[in-house]
Amino acid sequence: MDIPLAAGWTCAVCGARVDIAKPFSWRCPKATEADRHHALQLVQAIAPLRGGDDPNPFVAFRPYLAWDNFAAANGMTEMARTALVRQVDTDVAIVAGVGFHVTPFDRSDALSDALGFSADGGVWIKDETGQVAGSHKARHLFTILLHLLTAESIGLAPWADDADRPPLAIASCGNAAYAAATLAAAVRWRLRVFVPPNADPVVLAGLRELRAEVVECPRRPSDPAGDPCTHRFREAVAEGAIPFTVQGPENAWCLDGGRTIGWEMARHFEERVPGPPLDRLFIQVGAGTFAACTIAGFRMSGVMPRLHAVQTNSCAPLARAWDLARQLGGPVSAATHWSECMWPWEHVGESAADGILDDETYDWIPVVRAMGDGNGSPIVASEAQVLHANELGRSTTGIDASYTGTAGLAGLIAARDDIGPSERVAVVFSGVRRSSQ
Ligand SMILES: Cc1ncc(COP(=O)(O)O)c(C=O)c1O
Ligand SMILES: [Zn+2]
Repeated sequence: MDIPLAAGWTCAVCGARVDIAKPFSWRCPKATEADRHHALQLVQAIAPLRGGDDPNPFVAFRPYLAWDNFAAANGMTEMARTALVRQVDTDVAIVAGVGFHVTPFDRSDALSDALGFSADGGVWIKDETGQVAGSHKARHLFTILLHLLTAESIGLAPWADDADRPPLAIASCGNAAYAAATLAAAVRWRLRVFVPPNADPVVLAGLRELRAEVVECPRRPSDPAGDPCTHRFREAVAEGAIPFTVQGPENAWCLDGGRTIGWEMARHFEERVPGPPLDRLFIQVGAGTFAACTIAGFRMSGVMPRLHAVQTNSCAPLARAWDLARQLGGPVSAATHWSECMWPWEHVGESAADGILDDETYDWIPVVRAMGDGNGSPIVASEAQVLHANELGRSTTGIDASYTGTAGLAGLIAARDDIGPSERVAVVFSGVRRSSQ
């Protein structure tokens, strides 16, 4: 493809620009240890979004990926780019039992009936539980991995050979850690996973089975406020580890591959579902990266549903930021008010949806913007709604998603009275239920 579809990165906060050809451009060049309030966003053409028919979304939508533009700008041929995706995907499938694939997106008649939707409207479920490592998280990480392997193969990496590779690092004890460990194992790259002392032993055993190096992070007396896992992760990155993480401000390249899920949904709805477009999209929000990418994918299709970012009342920093941003000049200019709008939730409670208890919504800016310019809003679900959503979602669809995975549905249940029966709404069930959940 001749037209560059991703022209580069620009920081939503300071306006710094980064060329798409630049390797290892994980963070805004103006970000420092003391000032992390920077957020690179892709400068992306709104092109007619035409996915090919390939079952692998990273092949079908390859020309729209920033990674593909990066590789092309550094002289890698189209054939070599496609071959790299296929090769790594084959390696991933050996470890994961499944390669990257377009996941099902269908109207659930039983769930639509249970929630009182009419035949014209209804609830469409994107079932992401069968994706690599059981959730959408591997999509985000795959473009970081492709970036690394590309840089390595064309001689842009500063390390001499595989043995000198710096380790990958992530702070997570859930789906993102599984995804990171799965991809790292596929390409035999060392991975350090920073976890809290109370992490689920089933998850830790799974990570160790994938040969990840699990690093427990008790709070140290000298630690500043905030999550000790994040402190240890950042220290490792400062010492040279590669941020293999699903938080845009730590590694913007995760924002690239995450959009494949939005592209799939947008294309599917436009091509396969007769009648009007989707009215609303409910996405469960922890770091906000998932919602930011999904709606960015829709935005590129030219048809944007109203975005509802769903959190639980145990931890809702995004809803707070939304209210404050609206008082301070509006959601679209929220980036200029980071400190006034977004800071860690003081008293994180408990929730069965424990994958979305991030005390800070790191990728809050694109989510608030998309809700602002697309007439959406945040939703804070109660714990009863979280529990009910999982029971209802699993029993009506047969999809074995975790509480975190069905939390978007909890938001739909919370907002149900404000939604017309003929509206068309979508939720993503991501995060397969593991034995301990
Ligand atoms: C299944 C599932 N859904 C949604 C999320 C939220 O994604 P994000 O942290 O990008 O907001 C997570 C995060 O852990 C998750 O595991
Ligand atoms: Zn910046």
